[in-house]
Amino acid sequence: MSGTSANAHLLAIVLAAGQGTRMKSTLPKVLHAIGGRPMLLHVLESARAAGADRLAVVVSPATPETGAAARKFAPETGIFVQDRQLGTAHAVLAAAPAFSGFGGTVLILYGDTPLILPETLIRLRKALADGAAIAVLGFHAADPHGYGRLILDANGQLQAIREDKDATEDERAITLCNSGVMAFHAPVLAALLPRIGNENAKGEYYLTDAVALARAEGLPIAVVVAPEAEVQGVNDRAQLAAAEAVLQARLRARAMAGGATLIAPETVIFAFDTVIGQDCLIEPHVFFGPGVSVGNGVHIRAFCHIEGARIEDGASIGPFARLRPGTHAGPDVRIGNFVEIKNASIEAEAKINHLTYVGDARVGAKANVGAGVITCNYDGHNKHHTDIGAGAFIGSNSALVAPVKIGDGAYVGSGSVITGDVAPDALALARARQTEIPDWAARMRARYTKPDGKP
Ligand code: UD1
Ligand code: MG
Repeated sequence: MSGTSANAHLLAIVLAAGQGTRMKSTLPKVLHAIGGRPMLLHVLESARAAGADRLAVVVSPATPETGAAARKFAPETGIFVQDRQLGTAHAVLAAAPAFSGFGGTVLILYGDTPLILPETLIRLRKALADGAAIAVLGFHAADPHGYGRLILDANGQLQAIREDKDATEDERAITLCNSGVMAFHAPVLAALLPRIGNENAKGEYYLTDAVALARAEGLPIAVVVAPEAEVQGVNDRAQLAAAEAVLQARLRARAMAGGATLIAPETVIFAFDTVIGQDCLIEPHVFFGPGVSVGNGVHIRAFCHIEGARIEDGASIGPFARLRPGTHAGPDVRIGNFVEIKNASIEAEAKINHLTYVGDARVGAKANVGAGVITCNYDGHNKHHTDIGAGAFIGSNSALVAPVKIGDGAYVGSGSVITGDVAPDALALARARQTEIPDWAARMRARYTKPDGKP
């Protein structure tokens, strides 16, 4: 009954019912993010990338948000509630309806082990396709304390997994550990699960006991080894930061492999879905939130914060620019220092170089927005749109009170507060007229100068 073909159906069950108390958080542990996305979704994504066509998540009744997040990611995900946390075998049993009568492969993953790569899961699948009934993902632990140890026989075959608390002194010296990720031929899992008991140090139902049971029946068991960094789990905030660091290293490597130059890669933070084109130059200390795509030949100067933005070829952004969700920066635009853009389309070759807020707006091609311009998009109740035509010139320190439309090629004089539409090619001035009193300053100086000539 062992072995499944390489293209058999694959069910991934993600265990996520643990309490996560060490996170000290009101948010369920597996919903804490790395690379701007909850850990649980990284795991589901890897499973899917490894070919999982069925997904299931085991959650605790205390955290319905966990199931909701999984469903939002993949609506077909089966959500199974484990009423009490009685161990990993008990958790898998909660999801038994997902594999009853199933002839494919079942992959067990943990929601708090977010760095697992699809390639590794595919290696486990392959071990099953090659005839194993169970494949265990192991790793060499720098410090094995706390992990289940892989007990090999004289032939190097896996005999059993011994949990730390149940291990003898000799077994504790073993550094080859269980990552927790396992693949089962589904009928084997279904047959063994009900036979797992809880006579152990923790009084829990250990999924790892399936190995010794399978071995007693002479079923072939494979071990696949992964780097420790890939299977590291997250139990507290320090481990969350450690996982983030591994993910960031991968994302930076991906950007550079794609042809981007990162002057100081360790200072650039990417989101899981950041897309960077070829020949981009990214200066130090740039933060990408989710939903950013950057075209080719874009220069992002130091200290920019960018999320939910599409930046086209040849654009120059920053230093110190903030691009918020809904920003579209067209080809060759210039967005300079201390400029904030939100929900706005900046069309080709437009320039917004200094100290400006553009929100809920369109800035037409080749328009020039001067220093200190503000689109006043919010009246305290509603947001309104500003439309700046192609080739328009907005003088420095102007306020454009939305809704308002500046026609193509129009000119707004500096310091204007524009409350009405401006016709194409017109000049609009909305400020006090300048007056000049000849010699006023000289007379003033004379009045306050003392006889000794000092002011
Ligand atoms: C488990 C493994 C151990 C392995 C280690 C790797 C078992 C018995 N032990 O130990 O061999 O070295 O992971 O980190 O499997 N969970 C539930 N419901 C439960 C219990 C656990 O959903 O009733 C989930 C947890 O949320 C977690 C995962 O299963 O994501 C592992 O549980 P945990 O208690 O951390 O197991 P360990 O003792 O670390
Ligand atoms: Mg654990």
